[in-house]
Amino acid sequence: MSASGEAWREPQRILFVCLGNICRSPSAEAIARALAVRQGLDHALAFDSAGTGSWHIGDPPDPRAREAAAARGIELTGRARQVSAADFERFDLLIAMDRAVLRTLQGAAPDAEARAKVRLLPGEHEVPDPYYGGPEGFERVLDLLEARCSELLAELTER
Ligand code: 4NP
Repeated sequence: MSASGEAWREPQRILFVCLGNICRSPSAEAIARALAVRQGLDHALAFDSAGTGSWHIGDPPDPRAREAAAARGIELTGRARQVSAADFERFDLLIAMDRAVLRTLQGAAPDAEARAKVRLLPGEHEVPDPYYGGPEGFERVLDLLEARCSELLAELTER
């Protein structure tokens, strides 16, 4: 208990997961964090991102994703990493950007408790992979993430 009598709560930890951890999940992480800061919820929610694949480990976010996000005032940071078994312990929720990633995570979950932490964004919306397409794909990713992360925050913080 704190001096004010309120129980001190750990933040909810949310990991966004895509394939490469250079386009969609770093965008989701940055958008969710920006929304949380704007809503004064950044003490209650902590965000990170990872990829199921190993191709881009150590790489910064894709320049096309960075440019599209920067145009909306959002900075993409961090270096790509691959999701690990420890992530199923460290995080309360693992949010897959599409159903293929969802299945990979479900298959990698060490037990039923870990498996229960894996889900899609609200409404089971998928975020299409923009990697092999044009700039419009990156705009679509941001549009989708802005809408769905807003819903996610509302869901996570409702009492
Ligand atoms: P992301 O995009 O999963 O949104 O980071 C991709 C990045 C790289 C690859 C696929 C998707 N790749 O095949 O290398």
